[in-house]
Amino acid sequence: MEQADLIWMNGEILPWEDAKVHVLTHGLHYGTGVFEGIRAYETEVGTAVFRHREHLDRLHESAGLYYMEIPYSVDELRAATHELIAGNGLASCYIRPIAFRGYGQMGLNPLEAPVDVAIAVWPWGAYLGEEGKTRGIRAKVSSWRRFSGEALIPHAKASGQYLNNVLAKVESLKSGYDEAIMLDAHGFVSEGSGENIYIVRDGSIIEPPQTASVLDGISRRTVNELARDLGHDVVARDIARAELYLADEVFMCGTAAELVPVREVDDHAIGGGEVGPVTREIQQAFNDALHGRDPRYRDWLDVVAVPAAEPRS
Ligand SMILES: Cc1ncc(COP(=O)(O)O)c(C=O)c1O
Repeated sequence: MEQADLIWMNGEILPWEDAKVHVLTHGLHYGTGVFEGIRAYETEVGTAVFRHREHLDRLHESAGLYYMEIPYSVDELRAATHELIAGNGLASCYIRPIAFRGYGQMGLNPLEAPVDVAIAVWPWGAYLGEEGKTRGIRAKVSSWRRFSGEALIPHAKASGQYLNNVLAKVESLKSGYDEAIMLDAHGFVSEGSGENIYIVRDGSIIEPPQTASVLDGISRRTVNELARDLGHDVVARDIARAELYLADEVFMCGTAAELVPVREVDDHAIGGGEVGPVTREIQQAFNDALHGRDPRYRDWLDVVAVPAAEPRS
């Protein structure tokens, strides 16, 4: 991965290599952390963080679901992120805030362990590759089911939960695919290993419901609003596995991946293997919104207020 010069940890800005934790950090052993993935883009109104407040709200919500109180408010985390982006002189970047149970308590009860908070920013290109965004990716339905709400909390973006996604991702890569599609405990389509998923069938855009063990993605909220503004019908309902193969179009969206067409699922070409018109139209609107090219969606941009430092050489 690329790195930056500075990182924020527990209220201080530090050199990148000084952001260290003890090996007995609770979150390292038991996965007791929550995090976010956010992006900032270069726009004509300056470097802007996309839907920043919603991501930070979700961070606080994820923490609350695991009985963890983050000792910094959304406003404080937002200001720290702005300062960090400016301090690193980055015009666009990926942003990773994390809050985790720190050092001082072992055993499963995390409630006495301190809560440490860090924010890292660094340049990160297309998560599923530039070609994936233009030509579409090849996905495999994973043999690993997305964990249900009876075992963990799909609505929380919590560190330990990601072992489930790691298994699905590794399986898909080792089998020669780009990404995994996970089914929920009932066998309905849930989501990608790090993206929400949509199918387009007979003119409708369909997403799995909130009860299908999905993360309530902020990119999916964006897609839903853009699609409706473009005059499309967006429906949330159970999606059978075979509907992936029978769909006219399939696409995924997430902060890291952005909007990515899926051109094959389990070796079935979707819509003849070409990116379909609905996906293209929404992808274009999505990219315009991210990059501040559409004034109707300027409210989604949180412009980095601190004057940018000299760019790194
Ligand atoms: C499991 C999972 N589902 C969905 C998403 C998409 O969420 P968002 O659009 O908020 O990035 C992500 C990425 O954060 C994810 O990790």
